[in-house]
Amino acid sequence: MQPRVLSGIQPSGSQHIGHLVGALDNFTRLQGEGEAFYMIADWHALTSKYEAVEEVWPATLELTATYLAAGLDPQKATIFVQSLVKEHAELHLLLSMITPLSWLERVPTYKEKLQNAVADLGSYGFLGYPLLQTADIIVYKARKVPVGEDQLFHLELAREVVRRFNHLYQREVFPEPEAVLTKTPKVPGLDGRKMSKSYGNCVYLRDTDAAILEKCTRQMASDPARVRKTDPGNPEICPVFEFHKLFSDAATVELVNVECRRAGIGCFDCKKRVAEAVIRRVAPVRERIEDSLSRPADLQAVLKDGSARARAVAVETMEDVRAAMRMPAL
Ligand code: TRP
Ligand code: SF4
Repeated sequence: MQPRVLSGIQPSGSQHIGHLVGALDNFTRLQGEGEAFYMIADWHALTSKYEAVEEVWPATLELTATYLAAGLDPQKATIFVQSLVKEHAELHLLLSMITPLSWLERVPTYKEKLQNAVADLGSYGFLGYPLLQTADIIVYKARKVPVGEDQLFHLELAREVVRRFNHLYQREVFPEPEAVLTKTPKVPGLDGRKMSKSYGNCVYLRDTDAAILEKCTRQMASDPARVRKTDPGNPEICPVFEFHKLFSDAATVELVNVECRRAGIGCFDCKKRVAEAVIRRVAPVRERIEDSLSRPADLQAVLKDGSARARAVAVETMEDVRAAMRMPAL
């Protein structure tokens, strides 16, 4: 039997091309290999969006539409909503009994986010974010977790908590989960920094063709040393070239690689070609997202069915957990 896969994304804002090439393509690939669970982590969204709760359900539907548009198939993968499977909360509570505070306080994303956040994140729930994530994974006894590099510390915490649980209660209830990193290099933002909503440097999956063209040609950074069209450029330090490698065909990549260095192609032309390649990739995804969003009842049916399937598995695990922790089964 193939090891079980679980991953999830928080429904807090629209998804961009970094999600598509990084996470979603990986999710889609893994759904064919074994049992896969893909969650909409709405409780995780609440750790920072607790003042804007009305945004979470619309974002949940949008993320579901995005999962489907990116290629997730509800016949092959279980697509579900975290808050509809209350066993995640029960396990999170029980794990909180055995998790030293210091393990949570030393998670690097914790201090970092605490300092940079706009909302006040000094809550109990926010400190517990990675422990809730641990519960999400192990309540399915999942072994493989497709995530980005920024999540590796969370996975390390999950492994430590699993070892502690199995050791304390002297039973191998949980396997140690492992991150599955994507082989695709990261998509940089339009300005060359990490693509992130807070930097305003994203191409969103729901952007129109005109918006993509505008962003790629007018907002995108290129080699800063290339001031005039006659100056040779260096594609290795140019985010436009990174985009070509991710979205253009091999011939175009080669052409840019050669012509940029000998000033045979202008940056504007180069960016226009990148825009065309991004549009080719994004437009069909966008159309599928918009089409699904126009049929919210179908999206809800996918979530309802997936959440029931997920719950059946989570309930079984919780029986093992309760037995290991000597709780009554009356
Ligand atoms: N923390 C993840 C992120 O920000 C989202 C997430 C929540 C998740 N629960 C998870 C990812 C369980 C993998 C497994 O992307
Ligand atoms: Fe970047 Fe293309 Fe300009 Fe070269 S030609 S510097 S790869 S935008």
